[in-house]
Amino acid sequence: MVSAILGYSDVLVGTQYGDEGKGKTVDKKTKSGMYGIVARYNGGKNAGHTLEEKGRKIVLHQVPSAIFSRDIQLYIGSGCALDLEKLEREIAEITSFGIDLSNRLNISDKALITCPHHIMLDAELGKELGTTGSGMGPAYADRAMRAEGSRLKHLRFADLLDNPSMAIEVIVENAMDRGLDSRERIEAKAHKILEAAKNLEQYVPRDPLWLLSQVNNGENVLFEGAQATLLDVTHGTVPFVTASHTIAGNAYVGGDLPPKYHRKTFGVAKAIMSRVGNGPFVSEFGGSRSEHYCAEERGKRYTKAYERTNYNVEELLKSDDPFHTGIALRILGEEYGATTGRPRRLGMLDLVALKYAVDLNGIDELHLTKVDRLVDFSRTQLPGIPIVVAYEVDGRNIDYLPTSTDFLKTAKPIIEYRPHIKEDLSGMRNFSDLPPEAKELIRYIETSVGCKISSIGVGPEREQYIDL
Ligand code: IMP
Repeated sequence: MVSAILGYSDVLVGTQYGDEGKGKTVDKKTKSGMYGIVARYNGGKNAGHTLEEKGRKIVLHQVPSAIFSRDIQLYIGSGCALDLEKLEREIAEITSFGIDLSNRLNISDKALITCPHHIMLDAELGKELGTTGSGMGPAYADRAMRAEGSRLKHLRFADLLDNPSMAIEVIVENAMDRGLDSRERIEAKAHKILEAAKNLEQYVPRDPLWLLSQVNNGENVLFEGAQATLLDVTHGTVPFVTASHTIAGNAYVGGDLPPKYHRKTFGVAKAIMSRVGNGPFVSEFGGSRSEHYCAEERGKRYTKAYERTNYNVEELLKSDDPFHTGIALRILGEEYGATTGRPRRLGMLDLVALKYAVDLNGIDELHLTKVDRLVDFSRTQLPGIPIVVAYEVDGRNIDYLPTSTDFLKTAKPIIEYRPHIKEDLSGMRNFSDLPPEAKELIRYIETSVGCKISSIGVGPEREQYIDL
């Protein structure tokens, strides 16, 4: 008997609150030629992965990030919740970039479909949490509800393809139950969703074990987590989290592959952290003032254009108010939400949270992004690069991430300052080029969190990174 040649799978996850630069990291990893497939296992259009090629920018929401590596297959697993009309538009935009997905994109027919009532409910109920309004919470909740009497509470892609009239009834009646809109409008919307499903059918392999069969043919898979560890529905800063499991273990549930193929776990961390939406963020510059400023309704006003026109970065950098430091770093680092355009809240690199993410996901190697931006601290009044090494809660120092959000909200950061980096790192491509302060900082982080940093990002372009 001839034994099958098996492939393997790796998982890449965000270690903070999202927007760590996962898309670009996936893009870099796939250039190695090691992977035949990049797969998603959670989330939906709430994700925003920005990729740049030759000065052109594209923001992906639902399609996996490896679009530029044209020989790589893309897979969207059953753990994702899809907005089909938006997915169709995203594919059209990718096609306009000269990238043909027709024989590359594969979507699980078990993937959840976000329906009009999910989006409407999220717009209402997600306000307090600061969600992206993509319907994630209500969609995953309906999956857990399964059915109400004989009517399904949620739909999977297969339902739309195999039983369209039932699917229309489910979409319409679930919305009518909530009294969310007129029957006429919901019916029109339901037909549009069905039409999108038909147009996307070409991407749906009907074998539920399609990914497994590829791996059994020797293909290697890179699972790409959406959102990030601290937004995990159970392990993040509950309730200010997304509605799916973001952590590496879920790749083998939402990604439709048995865990026996797992090889390595990669984590992506950003040198200056960010968070969009509400919720605790111990290392935030400007604390609750920044959270309030960046919050949903007001955040819409403080756009990139607004902040660039109305603030003087040099003056902000000279201020000893951390709230001003945060705004300056946001403008310099262009930290605005890829999905919502909201200003991202910025904070110091938090090693307590990073160690938690390393341990929880079992991360083997870290990629640290935006290391070039650390130079901005040398223009501030701060005595060095601020790093959070522990928390003070109720007069006690702790070195772990507390589970209770109320507890976490009262935590004060204990800061250590590392020597400033003064040189521009953006043109550097070798570890040996880096100034001693940058090398020392990398070693310091590795030792503190107990994980190797295998590469760093030094700018927004695809080739701006250094393998260590
Ligand atoms: P939801 O995922 O839309 O339900 O939003 C829940 C929380 O996760 C909110 O704080 C969002 O801002 C945050 N979130 C969701 N997706 C992303 C992402 O891709 N990057 C960063 N934050 C995200």
